[in-house]
Amino acid sequence: MNLLIVYASQTGFTKKYADWLAEKTGGETMDIKDAEAKDDKFFADYDAIVFGGWANAGKIVKSAWFTSRIDGWKGKKLAIYCVGASPNDGPHVDDMLNKVLTADQQKYAKVFYCQGGLDYDKMSFGSRLAMKAFAAILKKKKTDDPAEKLMAEMVGKSYDISDPKYLDPIISYLEA
Ligand SMILES: Cc1cc2nc3c(=O)[nH]c(=O)nc-3n(C[C@H](O)[C@H](O)[C@H](O)COP(=O)(O)O)c2cc1C
Repeated sequence: MNLLIVYASQTGFTKKYADWLAEKTGGETMDIKDAEAKDDKFFADYDAIVFGGWANAGKIVKSAWFTSRIDGWKGKKLAIYCVGASPNDGPHVDDMLNKVLTADQQKYAKVFYCQGGLDYDKMSFGSRLAMKAFAAILKKKKTDDPAEKLMAEMVGKSYDISDPKYLDPIISYLEA
């Protein structure tokens, strides 16, 4: 399979998943900035294109780069993976994934989630401020939901809950 993996990553988790996926499949990785500079012809020879983007306030960063092109890529295997700080079974993950593709696009492309983590040292200044504000809101919020309580405890500092096993469903889809 001739696979291209394009990724948008701020602190490295999404890139790490791109590298793991490339190792496991023999695919080629490309930063979104390089992919944005390519013309349509460049993508013609790939049998499969996967886009990975990090979760930012319930949206997948740069996913529009992918979703605005895939109508022209029907016939290829197409997938998005989102990497966020929420665990795979986190309460907002499904909502985030379900709104990325239109009903028609869901017939020929798939969306996956891989849990990443938080790295305050590598975040931009703006991202760090936004995450600290979000962590403070969660801490103040009174909730009985154990998943939300756990999230409130986790987001105040850096952590890494990434694992290559979260790529298994994507690999199965690509190889089917
Ligand atoms: C401003 C901001 C908003 C975020 N929003 C979400 C979110 O809605 N859901 C989530 O699971 N993670 C969220 N995260 C966490 C990142 O998606 C997470 O740290 C991810 O692993 C970053 O990937 P990267 O290392 O490839 O940049 C947010 C992080 C920042 C800085």
